[in-house]
Parts: sequence; C-alpha cells; structure tokens
Amino acid sequence: MFDSGETDGIFETGSVFANRELLRVGHVPDLERVVGRDEEINAIGAALGPATVGGPPETTIIYGKTGTGKSLVARCVTREAHEEAKTNDVSLAYAYVDCSDYQTEAKASREMARELVSRLDTETDVPRVGIAASDYRDIVWELLNEFQVAVFVVILDEIDKLDDDELLRSLSRARESGKVDAHVGAICISNKIEYRERLNERIDSSLQDNELIFDPYDAGQLRAILEHRTDAFADDVLDGDVIPKVAALAAKEHGDARKAVDTLYEAGRLAEKQGLDTVSVEHVDDAVQQAEINRFQKLVSGTTPHVKHILHALALLTANNPEQEAFRTHRIYDLYTRIVEREDATPLSEDRVYRLLKEQAFLGVTESNHTGGGQGEGSYLEHRLLRDPDIVVKALENSEPS
Ligand SMILES: Nc1ncnc2c1ncn2[C@@H]1O[C@H](COP(=O)(O)OP(=O)(O)O)[C@@H](O)[C@H]1O
Ligand SMILES: [Mg+2]
Repeated sequence: MFDSGETDGIFETGSVFANRELLRVGHVPDLERVVGRDEEINAIGAALGPATVGGPPETTIIYGKTGTGKSLVARCVTREAHEEAKTNDVSLAYAYVDCSDYQTEAKASREMARELVSRLDTETDVPRVGIAASDYRDIVWELLNEFQVAVFVVILDEIDKLDDDELLRSLSRARESGKVDAHVGAICISNKIEYRERLNERIDSSLQDNELIFDPYDAGQLRAILEHRTDAFADDVLDGDVIPKVAALAAKEHGDARKAVDTLYEAGRLAEKQGLDTVSVEHVDDAVQQAEINRFQKLVSGTTPHVKHILHALALLTANNPEQEAFRTHRIYDLYTRIVEREDATPLSEDRVYRLLKEQAFLGVTESNHTGGGQGEGSYLEHRLLRDPDIVVKALENSEPS
C-alpha cells in the first residue's frame, strides 16, 4: 500500500520558473523577442515579400557561426510570411528541414514531404523507406497541386551536412519543369562560411541573389536577448548580476546565443533543484562547470573504462599536486591500479597503460614528453593533463559505476 504522504510532492517543480518553455532548445520565440537582427529580418522579409502576395520568393543563403540566430530568424520570418499571406488570401506553405538530422537526399526529401503533410493537415502517407528521393519530392509536388498551394518555401538548415545538391536544384527547377504550379523558394543555412565556395560552384547563379552573413553577438546583444526571456522565471527570482554574467561569459565564447540561453536555463534548474527561489551568479558558475563536465563526458564516452581510469588517475595526481604538472607512467599506473582494484576489476599491464597514454595525446586530452632523468637515470616519458583536473575528476567520478 502506498502511503500518500510519501508520494506527495514528487512532481513538485519549485518556484523558480514561470514559463521554462521560453528557455528550452528548439523553442522558436515570436518575432518580437528576436533582438538585434533587424537588418537580417528585413532582408529575409524582402526576399519573401513577393510570396506573401502570391508571387515568387527569392532564394536566400545565410552563413554564420553557431548560435548567431540563423535558424531562429529564418523560421520566425517564414512563419510571419505565412501569416501575412493568409491575410492576403494567399496559400503559402513552408517546410523546415534540419539537414544535420536528415543528411541524405532521400531523408531530407522525405522530411520535407512530412513537414508539408503536417502543415496541410492531411492524412497523406509518406512511406518510411523503399522509395527514392525523387519519389518523395513527387509526393510534395502532388500535394502542392492538389491543395492549390500558391507558394512553397523550404528552409534547408545546415545544408552543408547534406550529401548532395540535388534537392536544392530540384526546388529551383520545380516550376519551370512543369511539375508544380506553385512558386517554390528556399532559405539555405550553413554554419560554415567555407560552404559558400562549394555552393557557388555547383548551383546556378540565380540562387545566389541574396546572401546574408550573421555576425557573432557581443555581450550587449546577448544581454538584450536574455532580458527578453526573463519572463521564463517567476518574479524577482533572478539576481540582478546573473544576466550580465551569463552574457559576458557567452560573449567570450564566440558570441553564441544558444550557449547563453542554455546557461541561464541550467542556472535556474540548479537553483530549482536546491529548492531555492533565487538564482545567483554561483548558480551560473556551477552551470558552466556542469556544461564542461558534460562536454568532457561526451568526449570520452566512446573510450573503454580503462582509458577513463587512466585519465582519472592522472587527473587526481594533477589536482593533488599543484606544484607539479607532468607525471611519469609508473606513478599514474600505481594510482590507476588502485582505482581499478577498488572496482573489483583487473588492471591492464603497465606497458599497455603506457601505450594508451601515448594514444590519448591524440584526443587532445593529455600530452606526453620525453624528459631527461636525474643522475643515473635514462630519459623517460612524462604525461600532462591538458584539461582542468577538477572537471575531469568530476566527469569521471560520475560516469564510473560506484
Ligand atoms: N536575436 C535573437 N533574439 C533572441 N533569441 C535569439 C537570438 N539569436 C539567437 N537566439 C536564441 O539562441 C538560440 C540559438 O539560435 P539559433 O537560431 O538556433 O542559432 P544558429 O542557427 O545560428 O546556430 C536559440 O535558442 C534562439 O532562441
Ligand atoms: Mg541553426
């Protein structure tokens, strides 16, 4: 029998957030919440302008580093164009395809078809497998004709991940080839500016009408972006110095707004977990540290438990000997065997550990150098940890079975 008293409150969410959705990855805020991208919004708006009255949209290509608002602005403006077209009695449909999730031409074409099906609110079946990329596109053309769609805009996000340019080419030729009556346009987005060269070579010049570069945000812009999301939190929960601190940190890290929003959210979650009703800069520091721990765990997630134990040993030595940076294989091996035995496992041989340490240098996690030994000693290899040892220790403590 359950004692209702014990289950009370297990779903308690605390009083930190009023609307956490605003800070979640994938949330597309309204255009009013988009800060500091007026020029870019206007440029995309101008490219889509003719489409809102039933004319042909111009294709736009957007370049810029991650977290500079490319996906957001493209989606917001397209959504807005859809609304505007509706008021003009023009049927404008759009599809958003993140090519990093759908990297082959067939997968991306299928996703485009699925997006269109859901936008048109029909029951049309889009087969999972077994048909060619061009068949998926035929489904799209047929739907556009059947529903008498006047304009179709496709956002191809992270297009550099796509293994082929055929999808983009077929979009640009759909109408002239007589397959559809609708005007078809694309917004292509790439995190890699180098992709421009490739696109220039392969795509006809009509697609290169509009090129936009999104610059990284500075601290002031990041601050404004975060301030426009403060209603994610309950009233008076955020300490005044939290947002400036998050913005300053993110500005240093390549002006990435995604990281800034994430850090703010994680800081709030930490406060929530602690049952507090204020978020302070300490939570920000902890959130940043937690993100580094997560990144390190991801980096070593593909390695064997022994590699993790070796790195753990080196990190512990580094943390406990602040005056010393590099350690001989034998010393690392000593501590490594103790860690392994604590786990009731069998250690590898010292020679094997020596070789694994040399290999880890390739991950950029450690560095190995030959050093002249003291009197009477030959030269030997020393290993140095290239990461913050506290982060490494915490990451590996959490990822190892206790
Ligand atoms: N100008 C902006 N105003 C408000 N939020 C922004 C802005 N730019 C980026 N963001 C937020 O930052 C995150 C990353 O933006 P995104 O558009 O996905 O970047 P990109 O596609 O360039 O990598 C999103 O959560 C988005 O809501
Ligand atoms: Mg993006």
